[in-house]
Amino acid sequence: MCYAIPGKVETIDKNIAIIDYFGQKKKAINELLSLVPGDYVYAQGGYVIQKVKPHDAKEILEAWQEMFVQLQEVDAKIFRLSDKGAGENLKLRNILDKACEGKALKNEDLEYLLNLKDPAEVELFLKAANFLRQKYHQNACCAHGIIEISNYCRRGCTYCGISTHNGSLKRYRMSPDEIYSAVKEAVDVHGFKAIVLQSGEDPGYSIKELAEIIREIKKRHAVLILISFGEIGIEGLKELFGAGARGLLMRFETSNPELYRKTHSGQELETRLEHIREAYKIGYLIITGGLVGLPGQTSKDIINDLFLAKELNAEMFSFGPFLPHPNTPLAGSAVLEGDSILKTLALARFVALPESKILVTTAFETLTPSAREQGLLAGANSLMLNVTPLKYRALYSIYPKRAHELESIDIQVKDVIMLLKSLGRVPTDLGISQGG
Ligand code: 5AD
Repeated sequence: MCYAIPGKVETIDKNIAIIDYFGQKKKAINELLSLVPGDYVYAQGGYVIQKVKPHDAKEILEAWQEMFVQLQEVDAKIFRLSDKGAGENLKLRNILDKACEGKALKNEDLEYLLNLKDPAEVELFLKAANFLRQKYHQNACCAHGIIEISNYCRRGCTYCGISTHNGSLKRYRMSPDEIYSAVKEAVDVHGFKAIVLQSGEDPGYSIKELAEIIREIKKRHAVLILISFGEIGIEGLKELFGAGARGLLMRFETSNPELYRKTHSGQELETRLEHIREAYKIGYLIITGGLVGLPGQTSKDIINDLFLAKELNAEMFSFGPFLPHPNTPLAGSAVLEGDSILKTLALARFVALPESKILVTTAFETLTPSAREQGLLAGANSLMLNVTPLKYRALYSIYPKRAHELESIDIQVKDVIMLLKSLGRVPTDLGISQGG
């Protein structure tokens, strides 16, 4: 036996009806020819089952109204923490209960979580983030492809292996035709619906040339294009938006202006932020975030980073570990512990707007082989697959021995689909038919 609440049909477009349940909108397939907006219906399993007389519907709805609101609250609190795991730690329970109800946490609560040490407590904290992910995104997981079109870079960022500090790196720049065939493979063969084009700050490609490449890709494929070419200027951003780019991947790296200056050879954080803010105004989807574990960075810095990503309207939060590269000034720096990143991802889920996505980065995968699974179970719901041609992949050496450096796209897609399946997730941006 199953109970149902009548809903009111708001709109009907072809065979899809949008149905309102106490303010929540649900889609259902309609096969009743006589249905019109304003009708009350029962819907089950995504289908309109039958119409309900308005008088009957209103009576039932009145009876349900109070219960419905209560159920929503129960749903929010369902993660009320059992005695197991949290132990006697009432403070932790209270903070996590607040987070699970979608309430804002204080900075001191966030810092407390970030500095948790007890494994059982950490586990509970990560579970709470997973609970929120489930609540806001159900089982959807997006998987974008990234093509690194050039490893030339004019910047001297002290952490980065493709910066000017690395004199021994072989440089490459893909030709437009190489880019088109990489996009074609990703989109036509592997089913990607969103592609990031990334490079160092490479003066070898003019904005005009980049715009032409984007225009050509848009002509050939129905695909969302995100760009990540560094600080190309506001005019550059406008031009590439005009050519069809719709997303900007640009990390601010750190919200601490002093640390930013130190690690970016005297450049100003403000210039970076201006790019991101203007890009948002132009209409770009924003993917931003920072490096975790830079020498001199504090827990407070990391928490400020999360708030800054939110303030910048991040559609997707991208936070990954700093991994020292031997040919940079920061060679030999301490390597971060894996669970600091997990904790940062989980905190991001607490700080972010419900609709924001949280990425498991390749850098985290490089640090921790099971990063994807762990991250997806700690609040993250997004992955990026490297679809750069294999002959160039290892040359995009921002840090050494990147995960998936030697794996064909085929293998990567199969692995991701298998992983997502095992976790009960759906790859919403990949062709689901691919790889079974
Ligand atoms: N470790 C981790 N991430 C790095 N990046 C650059 N160098 C490193 C490193 N050594 C990241 C930066 C940049 C992105 C493209 O790569 O955060 O935004």
